[in-house]
Amino acid sequence: MSVDVILGLQWGDEGKGKIVDIFSSDYDIICRFQGGPNAGHTIIFDNKKYILHTIPSGIFHNDKLNIIGNGVVIDPVTFISEINELNNSNINIKNNLLISTSAHLILPIHRILDFVYENQKGDKSIGSTLRGIGPAYTDKIARRGLQLGLILKKDFNEYYKELTNFHLDYLNYLGVDIHKVKIENLTFKEYETKWFEAIESIKEYKISRTEYVLHEALKEGKKILAEGAQGSLLDIDHGSYPYVTSSNTTIGGVCTGLGISHNNINKVFGIVKSYCTRVGNGPFPTELNDDVSRELQTRGNEFGSTTGRARRCGWLDLSLLKRAIDINGVTELILMKVDVLDSLEYICVGEHIDNSDPYHPLVELISLPGWQKDTTKIKNYNDLPDELKNYISFIENKLNIPITMISVGPSREQILKK
Ligand code: GDP
Ligand code: IMO
Ligand code: MG
Repeated sequence: MSVDVILGLQWGDEGKGKIVDIFSSDYDIICRFQGGPNAGHTIIFDNKKYILHTIPSGIFHNDKLNIIGNGVVIDPVTFISEINELNNSNINIKNNLLISTSAHLILPIHRILDFVYENQKGDKSIGSTLRGIGPAYTDKIARRGLQLGLILKKDFNEYYKELTNFHLDYLNYLGVDIHKVKIENLTFKEYETKWFEAIESIKEYKISRTEYVLHEALKEGKKILAEGAQGSLLDIDHGSYPYVTSSNTTIGGVCTGLGISHNNINKVFGIVKSYCTRVGNGPFPTELNDDVSRELQTRGNEFGSTTGRARRCGWLDLSLLKRAIDINGVTELILMKVDVLDSLEYICVGEHIDNSDPYHPLVELISLPGWQKDTTKIKNYNDLPDELKNYISFIENKLNIPITMISVGPSREQILKK
């Protein structure tokens, strides 16, 4: 039992990257198991900020192996530009990164399709990051997707053309002129050129059947940390469907996305923001649209790490949290961004008191006193304001689960053990 898991329990952006980075020193291997460049995981140390999209957040510890598992979808362009940024900071990852042969590729056409499908949905659009995630996973499930291992075959271009033409025919049928759709300010053809250059660069990295590597590591008693992307409420099965992402962000995704057994899973750390945010559309029962939400947005710098979009803000939702804890078998919680609440006179938590309409539950708010003190420099749990300790034990009692760590700022050192 030596795989521990870090999962976001809300709508993503809970602070997973920061915790994976901090925990990495205690593990041998750090793995991403699902999602793709829709993720944006922020890590801050030595006054420098890094945002990772595809690469596991253990990459800053150069003695650790980082694995991109079979459940991940990879956009070569984003992936290589992420690597280039790391290289510019003198972080070389060639020797400690392994990518699964069976991870799927996001093609330029997937990015166009994402845009077209979102447009078609009109006011029912998901608010996708438009990184091609949905269309790439659709092709995987439809059994016509391209696994990364194919890039090593001589006839890879034929596979590429076949899948691209399949979608071009459909877009043509819809009357979409793809030459009018830009991808990151580039035309389809320009982006395609960049994409093939990136494919060549990926060949310099280690591509292998990562499940075997993990099985061997487990036999040798090595410690593995699995890093979730997104959050449980964006899960394709358990999230607020259809306003979700296209992968299993919950615990099952760890087994399918890495090729390991549930018997190997030990601790499941649930990462929880001390309030809620959501970027993109869909239900948000405890959402606020007032001075408090503006305060949370400003103090919490709640703007997407991937798209820069403003995140919607609201109170902590205990009922959704309880469900996420049960689905994932969470063993302990890590409470993030409590410093963002420092200025508030009172803090609320929501509970669903009527779920007869599962899409629109009736929410009751419980109000607790705020602490109105700066927590960002506090190093010991005992020194936290009493009102904050009260907020923490209130959540623990309601959910019947321990909160073992509290984060009081974005940097590596702003973390307290309880
Ligand atoms: P992830 O996707 O779960 O890794 O989270 P993101 O990186 O997208 O968003 C979390 C944001 O909050 C980032 O800007 C972090 O630097 C920041 N952050 C993490 N922990 C804390 C904290 O305890 N306090 C504050 N104020 N910011 C934090
Ligand atoms: P991390 O790992 C927050 C949201 C999008 C949209 C929906 C579907 O940083 O927590 P997609 O691009 O998958 O088609 O978008 O999911 N979303 C995220 N929200 N954090 C993320 O990742 C997200 N990844 C996707 O905003 O509502
Ligand atoms: Mg994020």
